[in-house]
Amino acid sequence: MNKTIISKYPSNIALVKYWGKYGNQLPKNASLSMTLSKAVTEVKLELMEKTNSEIELAYFFEGEEKEDFKERIVKYASAQPEFDYLLKNYALKINSTNSFPHSTGIASSASAFAAIAAALLSASAELDGDIFNREASRLSRLGSGSACRSFYGPYAVWGELDGLDASSNEFAVPVLEVHENFKNMRDAILIVEDQPKKVSSSVGHGLMKDHPYAEARFVDANKHCQEMLSTLKSGDFDKFISITEREALSLHAMMMTSTDYYMLMKPKTIQVIDEIFEFREQTGLPICFTLDAGPNVHLIYPESIEKEVKTFVETSLKKNTKLIIYDEIGFGGKTK
Ligand code: PMV
Repeated sequence: MNKTIISKYPSNIALVKYWGKYGNQLPKNASLSMTLSKAVTEVKLELMEKTNSEIELAYFFEGEEKEDFKERIVKYASAQPEFDYLLKNYALKINSTNSFPHSTGIASSASAFAAIAAALLSASAELDGDIFNREASRLSRLGSGSACRSFYGPYAVWGELDGLDASSNEFAVPVLEVHENFKNMRDAILIVEDQPKKVSSSVGHGLMKDHPYAEARFVDANKHCQEMLSTLKSGDFDKFISITEREALSLHAMMMTSTDYYMLMKPKTIQVIDEIFEFREQTGLPICFTLDAGPNVHLIYPESIEKEVKTFVETSLKKNTKLIIYDEIGFGGKTK
């Protein structure tokens, strides 16, 4: 029987960062993210019955066949026993498309692996609701760690955390108690550079293995997760801002102090951050920035000040950006 499955999952932006791993893609510290809604990957998975036992998988990105990513997916899928039956009995064709332009430097592996894992799982087993999400979250983590947080919104935690009973290193869990202040957040993604970065995240994670500050960083990040959970509950913007910005700079400080040190921020990244500091000081409005493992800046703010922030972005920040994507908080994805 031939079948088609469509899955659509968003990206997420970590407010408390995952940086450093052990074992089979398990995190050295807990992380906490805000789920996005406009930066999404849609995967169309077509299954064709076959009789030979060879793996047959074709991978297309926006209609174009991609051999390098295909190899990554074959390696990933064939390492998961859950997908054995599927790979043995069906030829698979995956077509993946992103809602955002592909040369922007936005980390697309979170939304891509969330959508791919969800489609493969849906083709492999009949699971419902919570059980499906948990299993898809776990399987996506094995492809790209941060992907496991894209199944839940508006916020998700990945990694064992004291006091958060359901939390696990294997999969993400939703953050259930969120104050009104944080229910309608926005993320203006300021693309300052659209060239591929020189050092991949997996190399960066690896450099945490013999990093002199690693243990202090893992303790700090877990503490930040705890503090962010209570902040999301209490609605305290000042605390939200200080944790989010300190986390972004701490992530980049780890890169800059690895034995093989490197820097992903660009002069324009610093200029944009400086202007955000200045704007906040002058207006007292609750905006802050965070950074991924790259030079682009995510400007985070509540919907209530959207008008003022957009004017600020267009008049002051735009000159240092190549592209701006106005995204907002989201609630996960779906598979059908
Ligand atoms: O999911 P990976 O292996 O690409 O690592 C992502 C790491 C950061 O984006 C920098 C932080 C995070 O928690 O998403």
